[in-house]
Amino acid sequence: MHRVHIEPSAIAFEVGEQETVLIAALAAGWRLPSSCRNGTCRSCICRLRTGEISYVIEWPGLSAEEKAEGWILPCVAIARTDLVLDQPGMVSVFG
Ligand code: FES
Repeated sequence: MHRVHIEPSAIAFEVGEQETVLIAALAAGWRLPSSCRNGTCRSCICRLRTGEISYVIEWPGLSAEEKAEGWILPCVAIARTDLVLDQPGMVSVFG
């Protein structure tokens, strides 16, 4: 298990070794912007401040430049360490 912190809201939740950040957020009661959930539409894109991730697909829809700048797609991202993400669009699933 790793811990994911979302800024600027200071929300935090746990993510398992095999679940995506998006699914872990939903399980904890938080909804990230998303649509396709397969790494192609980019509606979930957000910036990784600290930590390391890997992807469940080979070619997530990000350019090499975006990856170098820290942009990630949480719908297909697995946490390899604790993470801090910038995602101002996160909301509670309970409204
Ligand atoms: S929801 Fe489409 S790329 Fe993440």
